[in-house]
Amino acid sequence: MAAGKKEPVVVTGLGALDKPASGLLTWVDQRFPLMENWKTHLSEYYAPKNFNFWYFFGSLAMLVLVIQIVTGIFLVMHYKPDAAKAFESVEYIMREVPWGWLVRYMHSTGASMFFVVIYLHMFRGLIYGSYRKPRELIWVFGVMIFLCLMGEAFFGYLLPWGQMSYWGAQVIVNLASAIPVIGPDLAIWVRGDFVVGDATLNRFFSFHVIALPLVLLGLVAAHILALHEVGSNNPDGIDIKENKDPKTGIPVDGIPFHPYYTVHDIFGVVVFLMVFSAIVFFAPEMGGYFLEYNNFIPADPLKTPAHIAPVWYFTPYYSILRAMVWNFFWIDAKVWGVVAMGASTVIFFFLPWLDRSPVRSIRYRPTLHIYIYATFVVAFLILGYLGTLPPSPVGELVSQICTVIYFAFFLGMPWWSRWGQFKPVPARLTM
Ligand code: HEM
Repeated sequence: MAAGKKEPVVVTGLGALDKPASGLLTWVDQRFPLMENWKTHLSEYYAPKNFNFWYFFGSLAMLVLVIQIVTGIFLVMHYKPDAAKAFESVEYIMREVPWGWLVRYMHSTGASMFFVVIYLHMFRGLIYGSYRKPRELIWVFGVMIFLCLMGEAFFGYLLPWGQMSYWGAQVIVNLASAIPVIGPDLAIWVRGDFVVGDATLNRFFSFHVIALPLVLLGLVAAHILALHEVGSNNPDGIDIKENKDPKTGIPVDGIPFHPYYTVHDIFGVVVFLMVFSAIVFFAPEMGGYFLEYNNFIPADPLKTPAHIAPVWYFTPYYSILRAMVWNFFWIDAKVWGVVAMGASTVIFFFLPWLDRSPVRSIRYRPTLHIYIYATFVVAFLILGYLGTLPPSPVGELVSQICTVIYFAFFLGMPWWSRWGQFKPVPARLTM
């Protein structure tokens, strides 16, 4: 350009987009924060380098969520949410639809495996104190996911319209009628009828296939965003962000999530899929625990099964419900049962504020705490087992004792979590 002449200014208002795109990735990146998110959440997300077995279950929960959504989409293509056709349409899927049996068994096994994975994921949070400051919100979103998942499983269980679907829903919805004053009307409102019927099936279908999955996906996104904001905890319960390399600003005990933990998690996925396939192909009913035998009989509103039991993942709370047999303060035992059952799930929300221990991880807690955790887990398992059995005087007494242990664990935590001789927490992660 000749001296003295000014360069023409091109005003397009497109900023960075004025530059020529040198490839598809750049083209996308100029319009969408693809690389920025890849870096924030994967290649430059520094996770503690000592993740162990317990850290597989978060990614496995995501895998099961995807399995449930994909198989669910295919089931809906052939399922009929109509009280006169629902049971038959499931049989049709099992016998006539090509690969329908596989899709259905993957979905029913997926439901149980979701709870296996989630219970182990929550247990990890419990033993390593992953719910403690600054991870309270990760935990709170997690508990919301857990409650949502229970709703999802409950609504989904009515859809095959078998005897257990029908009578299970009948028992649980009837619990609402125990609430003083509004109870009976509330139960009718929930069912949309005087008994569980076509209207109930339609609304449960709607909740199961769209409402709750949307909420679940939103909550999982919030859960991961909250995790990536504060960073992952680890088996030592040490904050790796407190020890950063002065030059790079990267935690000295951190490694990039990708490729290290992507590869680690793929290994977990392969092992999980082996177990999952073994169940789907060889034991989809799992001895009546994953698919109850009574549910292969079409729903009959005139014939109540002798023993109504929920699926295994609900049984600890069902036992707590049945353990309440006394009428206190002129309020019916059934109401106390509902209150106790609700409280036994909602109480998880408060864990971050109930635990007052000076350390996070069980590794540095007094041996006494290990016994307390073990007692809680045993009580939870016993409650789960008793919930599968018909009521009996011995079962009732044992479930009452276990219910007391269950609540004492949480309500006593502000005290017992401070007792005993704590071990010194190291400055760096241990491998
Ligand atoms: C659909 C269900 C869920 C999905 C997909 C999910 C996914 C994840 C993932 C991918 C991680 C990071 C990897 C890991 O730490 O394992 C994580 C961490 C975590 N999750 Fe979940 N989660 C789910 C449910 C829950 C529930 C029900 C709870 C507790 C009630 C929970 C509590 C936590 C906590 C506390 C962490 C941080 C763990 C740590 O940093 O040590 N999550 N979750």
